[in-house]
Amino acid sequence: MPHFDDSELTAAVVGSFAEANDPRLKFLMEELVTSLHGFVRRTNLSFEEWGAALEFLTRTGQKCSATRQEFILLSDVLGVSMLVDAVNHRDRGGATQTTVLGPFYVGEHRPLPHGADISENVEGDRMFVQCRVTDLAGKPLAGVTVDVWHADDEGFYDSQKPSYASDGPSLRARFTTDAGGRLFFRTILPCSYPIPIDGPVGELILATRRHPMRPAHVHFLLDAKGYEPLVTHVFIEGDKYLESDVVFGVKQELISTIELRTDATMPDGLPAPGPWHLMTYDFRLKPGKGVAPKPMIAVSVDA
Ligand code: BEZ
Ligand code: FE
Repeated sequence: MPHFDDSELTAAVVGSFAEANDPRLKFLMEELVTSLHGFVRRTNLSFEEWGAALEFLTRTGQKCSATRQEFILLSDVLGVSMLVDAVNHRDRGGATQTTVLGPFYVGEHRPLPHGADISENVEGDRMFVQCRVTDLAGKPLAGVTVDVWHADDEGFYDSQKPSYASDGPSLRARFTTDAGGRLFFRTILPCSYPIPIDGPVGELILATRRHPMRPAHVHFLLDAKGYEPLVTHVFIEGDKYLESDVVFGVKQELISTIELRTDATMPDGLPAPGPWHLMTYDFRLKPGKGVAPKPMIAVSVDA
């Protein structure tokens, strides 16, 4: 009869996966158990702390619903989402940097023509966004689908609002690059916003005296045959949360200067309604394959 103590238990549990058919599953379980046991040993975890952790994870699961995914939020605030992104994109080779997809991507967006206003009736400071998509050598790429989405100037995504089902999409659309690899559209200037904090993840953020804010940004998902899909954001220079994004998603290369303009016309020659902002950003795709990510379940504040 084995008698497992602190020194022998880890080897016994790791050994219990010896017959696993899938070698990757076997490897992942061995590493997970080794890391978890190391954590318990290094911290001398008490029964109370272990119980609190189980209760926290239980409530995290209970907070999940068809419109809310608290585990993704937990992964985001612990930096795990960005780390998974980092280890899968170690060598960019000149391609645009990646960052988290986030929970507010709802899948393929409505296609709109260049120049369209994706903000329709949403209040806010006007912004014109112009982008170019090239390969690593700078050759413009035509026919690239580009999904864009961002929060309003109160920090909410359309999918977080009860009116989403009846009003439909807002501040999100799909554009397809023209022969010059260009896309351009009108919208409003987004602001920084808090991730949802009315659940266990919010409690953790508050208990550890972190803030829940993400710096202002526009999300982009680019997809072209023969190229690696690109999931990224363009962040707005000067935002006070750039250095302390709650999900650790900011990279210097993704920060863009937004120019305040007073020209009477916007870059496509149409009249400007008053002062406006200009966001300019060029994306570089690297050859490869891969499937564009599917939407995460939307995280929204439950009614
Ligand atoms: C977002 O950028 O939309 C986001 C990312 C991670 C957690 C919450 C929101
Ligand atoms: Fe976002």
